[in-house]
Amino acid sequence: MFHPPVWLATAIDVVLRAGEIQIRHQGGELEIDKKGAIDLVTKVDLEVERMCRDIIARRFPDHKVLAEELENEVASPGTPHRWVFDPVDGTVNYVHGLPTFCSCLALEVDGRPEVAAVFDPTRRELFTAERGAGAWLNGRPLGVSGADTLLDSMLCTGFPYDVHEHVDEAISLFGEFVARARAVRRLGSAALDLCYVAASRLDGFWEQGLRPWDLSAGSLIVEEAGGRVSRFDGTTFDTQCGQIVATNGKIHDQIIEVINTNERAQNRTT
Ligand code: IPD
Ligand code: CA
Ligand code: CA
Repeated sequence: MFHPPVWLATAIDVVLRAGEIQIRHQGGELEIDKKGAIDLVTKVDLEVERMCRDIIARRFPDHKVLAEELENEVASPGTPHRWVFDPVDGTVNYVHGLPTFCSCLALEVDGRPEVAAVFDPTRRELFTAERGAGAWLNGRPLGVSGADTLLDSMLCTGFPYDVHEHVDEAISLFGEFVARARAVRRLGSAALDLCYVAASRLDGFWEQGLRPWDLSAGSLIVEEAGGRVSRFDGTTFDTQCGQIVATNGKIHDQIIEVINTNERAQNRTT
């Protein structure tokens, strides 16, 4: 598919502006609200999302936007172009002053991400991808790692905001990986976790309870860096499916096997 250059240019423009807003408000009064017991939203999430929606509406009046914080129009079959945006991925980190957060934007055509940009303003790292053309970090090509066993792998995961209701399940799977991997991390920004798989800083990542704005940009960046993405059972990933296993490809089946074995064991005990 032909990608007009203005698509990726717009994705980059939006996430760089997002980073500027995030840094400007860092450490200031954030007007924190709770969407759930541990699910937060700040005035920065809202300001960044408004900025994105304004830019897309001006440049692409016939495109839709799906973003986390404000009301979304229902996607209709007549409008194949949809920008999928998370204004702050890692809001809990941001609120606590932990410098691991980003903003991420992908343009999906008929539900498939075609271009993507993720910006971490703390490290000034811009991850980008274009389907069929590659993935880049600050303009340099990205490639996944070569680790081929869990024992040689740095893994990462995250927990959904309803984790309090599923602690045993989350911890049991976490434990299975702790027992097999070199290390397991929980960084707090799914989009950056995916970019780090693409950049070979992580060898694999799994998480469920995710939304399209957590997944769309990062999943394309992983694929374009030569990695593999799937659902927990190994079947085809799509950005609406709510879960992801993202790896360098070599350890993918090993991760799926651990997840499936753990799930069977959990089912036996319930
Ligand atoms: C969250 C982060 C976190 C993940 C959660 C997400 P948010 O997004 O990506 O790492 O574990 O599941 O909801 O709320 O900071 O945009
Ligand atoms: Ca998010
Ligand atoms: Ca968010």
